[in-house]
Amino acid sequence: MSGRPVMRGGITLAAIAAICTAMVALTFRLTEERIIANEQAWLERSLEPALSGLFYDSGVTESKIVVPPPHELPGSEAAIIYRVYAEDSPVAALFVVTARNGYAGPIRVLIGVDVAGTVTGVHVLEHRETPGLGDRVETAKSDWVVQFDGRSLVDPEMPGWAIKRDGGQFDQLTGASVTPRAIINAIRDTLVYFESQGEGIFAIPVATESDEGGNE
Ligand SMILES: Cc1cc2nc3c(=O)[nH]c(=O)nc-3n(C[C@H](O)[C@H](O)[C@H](O)COP(=O)(O)O)c2cc1C
Repeated sequence: MSGRPVMRGGITLAAIAAICTAMVALTFRLTEERIIANEQAWLERSLEPALSGLFYDSGVTESKIVVPPPHELPGSEAAIIYRVYAEDSPVAALFVVTARNGYAGPIRVLIGVDVAGTVTGVHVLEHRETPGLGDRVETAKSDWVVQFDGRSLVDPEMPGWAIKRDGGQFDQLTGASVTPRAIINAIRDTLVYFESQGEGIFAIPVATESDEGGNE
């Protein structure tokens, strides 16, 4: 039996594989731009809850900076900061930080702070808290996070940044006080960080992809 038909079959298969690979690469190139634009739009929408009541320029995600650990923001993971501007003047910063000591692990939280150091919104992005207990910190499940809007380090002053049961000013969640404690501490520590950095936050250069080691 001749080896020629086998070889011909192999060449045909290799050619088909090469054509398929080229088509996949071409499709990826053609759709890549649209995928990136869609991702940007999704991210912009997910940041909106932390910017309630503010007038600001679009393109918030373009001002992203990544703060690698160790840092003074809550959590031991990289923190993300988006700077928010209105006609090129700083109006707020959005922080994506990790609240330690959730009941079931870390909780990723988005916290908006305006230039005066006032909370513009809080949104829980990721958590593993228990349905019906700790998960009530989600905006879709209750308005628990709304109580932080308009608050700052002077409203209330430091002992007040705790749940009422611990002598603070914020509502707990019935039967679930571990989750609220974790989030309140994260908001308070973010405000402390913002105050310590001042307007310097708005002067840090934007991160490049190679700095980031991942996307948020
Ligand atoms: C299965 C199970 C899941 C729980 N999940 C949560 C939770 O997600 N968040 C939370 O704060 N507490 C959770 N708890 C309750 C805590 O054990 C703890 O009792 C509570 O947070 C303390 O709050 P309390 O002092 O109001 O009881 C859970 C308890 C059990 C048994």
